[in-house]
Amino acid sequence: MAAFAPPPGTADIFPAEAGSWRLLENTAAKVFSSCGYGELRTPVFEYTEVFQRGLGGETEVVQKEMYTFEDRGGRSLTLRPEGTAGVMRALTNTDVANGNEQRVFYYGPMFRGERPSAGRRRQFHQIGVENVGRCAPLIDAECIAMLHNFLIAAGITGASFTINTRGVAADRAPAEALLREYFAKHLDSMCPDCRTRFERNIWRILDCKQECCQAIINDAPDYVGAFSEESRAYFEEVKTALTRLEVPFKVSSRLVRGLDYYVHTVFEVTHDALGEQIAIAGGGRYELFLPGEKRPLPGVGFATGVERLLMVREALNAPVPAETNADCFMIGLGSAARMENLVLANALRKAGKNIALELEERSFKAQMRAANRSQAAYTLIRGESELENNIAIIKKMDDGSQVEVPGDELLQYLLEHI
Ligand code: HAM
Repeated sequence: MAAFAPPPGTADIFPAEAGSWRLLENTAAKVFSSCGYGELRTPVFEYTEVFQRGLGGETEVVQKEMYTFEDRGGRSLTLRPEGTAGVMRALTNTDVANGNEQRVFYYGPMFRGERPSAGRRRQFHQIGVENVGRCAPLIDAECIAMLHNFLIAAGITGASFTINTRGVAADRAPAEALLREYFAKHLDSMCPDCRTRFERNIWRILDCKQECCQAIINDAPDYVGAFSEESRAYFEEVKTALTRLEVPFKVSSRLVRGLDYYVHTVFEVTHDALGEQIAIAGGGRYELFLPGEKRPLPGVGFATGVERLLMVREALNAPVPAETNADCFMIGLGSAARMENLVLANALRKAGKNIALELEERSFKAQMRAANRSQAAYTLIRGESELENNIAIIKKMDDGSQVEVPGDELLQYLLEHI
């Protein structure tokens, strides 16, 4: 059986679920384009250095989770583990480097070699946005409010927003010194991972989930207080704007996010349906160096995990939009009737109607069962005698009522009624 299952951490998405996927994608396109975002599609693989440089060589994603392989010429390629680095690479080829703003959104598969579990996949899908070229607290707030609007428009109510500030590069040294002094005193009672983080990237201690580290982390000193006045004022303005925009949020200095490119505002969204450990979205402001550019480009953005959004929608019993319900099912008895049905179906489909029909020789009973299964509101029935009399029977499935419609009026009749 194993050969028929998709590889661990991947999944097939069947038509019954596809309606919900499309709903999220369509809602995203509508909400994001109302804020001036246009869709950008980038390749699912990039040169490996796009991610190494973009995400930071010390990050867990780059160190442990990337699917990297060589192309025929020996160049190292990587399946994208996230969207931001590739979007920034693509934008080098636009006027963004000359100081113009670019607002783009994207959806598609991302790949991370994580241990699969509920809500954690090796191929997962993100819907994300990047707003590149500008840096201001109100832009960050606008971006977070747009995510809030998107979730509500997608039927996801009750999401919790947590925000924090990472300051800028110059803020890190004094804040790190404060954390180092504090954690050095507690290192003996902390988990082995935190001891390594203490040496390699002390910030990551703050989002450790191990029981033994919780009380120690909760009592850590307020490092944001050691950031510059400008950075603190930036964060204050983000918070004020979010309040004005009626986005409920809480502030947690433990939120640092796993990727290295963030500065200033960072945020994460969780939902009670999945618990605090599983984020349904995350993002923040960042600075990324484009190849060949001396100055980093500022941007702000987020990505939501589609599989996780769908899990929340399911927990909330949000209605699943039907993807394949036909408007009319056509039953044909005899090859001549089926030929006429196919020609009629083709004309109706060109006019945008959703038509299901049987084109193989099958019994009336079997075709009727298929008509019921299709959940079509109408069924057209035609056999040899109907063909001879140049009529078709149209049955309304909810009350079982039937009418006979002359052959040359059929197209018009169905266009008007189904
Ligand atoms: P991220 O937090 O790594 O950020 O991922 C964003 C979202 O993708 C997560 O909140 C989660 O919903 C989903 N996700 C991540 N990994 C998995 C997985 N293995 N299985 C299922 N879902 C997953 C980024 O990727 C940044 N590029 C976001 C960003 C855009 N920041 C600025 N701009």
